[in-house]
Amino acid sequence: MNERESLKINAQGHLEIGGADCVELAKEFGTPLYVFDEAYIRKMMRVYRETIENHYDGNGMVLYASKAFSCKAIYRIADEEKIGIDVVSGGELYTALQADFPAKNIYMHGNNKLDYEIGEALDAGIGCIVADAYSEIDKIDAEAKKRGIQQKILLRINPGVEAHTHAFVQTATTDSKFGFSIQDGTAEQVTAYALTKKHIVLDGYHCHIGSQIFEKQSFVVAVEKCMQFALEMKNRLNFTLKTLNLGGGYGIWYTDEDRKLSPEGYAEYLEALIATVKRCATESGMPLPFLLIEPGRSIVGEAGITLYTVGAIKDIPGVKKYVAVDGGMFDNPRYALYQSKYTPVLANRATENNTEIVSIAGKCCESGDLIAVNVALPKANSGDILAILSTGAYNYSMAMNYNRNKIPPCVLVKDGKAEYIVRPQTYEDLTRNDVIPNRLQKKP
Ligand code: LLP
Repeated sequence: MNERESLKINAQGHLEIGGADCVELAKEFGTPLYVFDEAYIRKMMRVYRETIENHYDGNGMVLYASKAFSCKAIYRIADEEKIGIDVVSGGELYTALQADFPAKNIYMHGNNKLDYEIGEALDAGIGCIVADAYSEIDKIDAEAKKRGIQQKILLRINPGVEAHTHAFVQTATTDSKFGFSIQDGTAEQVTAYALTKKHIVLDGYHCHIGSQIFEKQSFVVAVEKCMQFALEMKNRLNFTLKTLNLGGGYGIWYTDEDRKLSPEGYAEYLEALIATVKRCATESGMPLPFLLIEPGRSIVGEAGITLYTVGAIKDIPGVKKYVAVDGGMFDNPRYALYQSKYTPVLANRATENNTEIVSIAGKCCESGDLIAVNVALPKANSGDILAILSTGAYNYSMAMNYNRNKIPPCVLVKDGKAEYIVRPQTYEDLTRNDVIPNRLQKKP
């Protein structure tokens, strides 16, 4: 097993996260259970913030991409760590505001923001909206006019760098639903258009080249392209770049096929970006822009694990052995969606050697409801506590109630003590919005 900062094995041979024994957590809170290590989350937020402070004179801000994991407590932590957030829906915005997150440090994303979401963002007074369509620019301008304000925006541009997990390619054209392409001229056209709007202040550009990326060079090339484009816009449209938002996308460890970076290791990505921004600015004579980054996965991903209880075990001789758990695609749809890989650990027997290759199945009525396929484990028995590592990002936030399973609760561990940050759902929660029309009521 890959020892990470928040995980260790204690004297009882149990897996610990943030100093809390996973077997005890399972007893206290039940399973399935999402567990987050607060210290790891804070450390990652701090590493990014301090890198901007130390290498860029603090002329920038870290925005936590809250689509990775959104709940009130995480917004409180982000605020305490003096970072901003990005939100991509009215729901994330509402959650952040409910946690008293300062609106000025909120950036709103989305490729199709709804009218009411733009209205809510302006009413809240959020810092910036990242526009991704002509229609959005019109709406933001109109809504800002109604309120007698000017709204700061960035434009999402597409630098034509497509980054995949283990490789990156530069594409001449792009078919992404996100952003305005630099290459085909639409990024320039939309810049000119936004500059005509009286109730919009165009502050700069945003780009995000993908997720779970380890190659520094793909980020560097994206920065070069954005800075080159900004120079062209200065020369052609007399527009000076004030803010450059470079998105997120830094990869995390899921299995030993991935790189395992220490929190400090992530600072190196940011240092490379900063060095590139500085070099491009010097070469072009442009002022240094205010710099934003939007890491999501790398802040919460490795900070979280999911605990399950092993139930049915089905051995199909010569074919496959399934170890079924009390969760599944409803709490972690990432295998079903992307064939994502995970590392399982038997939390109650964490020192035992792996002796079998098994597939971890969920409890949904769906053959594709798997958490991990062909993974090594000690021989699992019904009742064992199984931990899946690196589930802090895009697990709870993508959970669903398929088969009317309850979305598991989330607990936050600090100094070995766990507390709910998202309480368990109840059957009542599941049926709260159900309505039986009169004509379907049982007649007495
Ligand atoms: N900024 C923007 C504009 C984004 O679209 C994203 C992620 C991020 C920042 C944060 O990227 P991160 O640092 O977390 O890689 N559901 C997928 C991931 C979708 C990511 C979408 N955008 C998954 O489970 O892998």
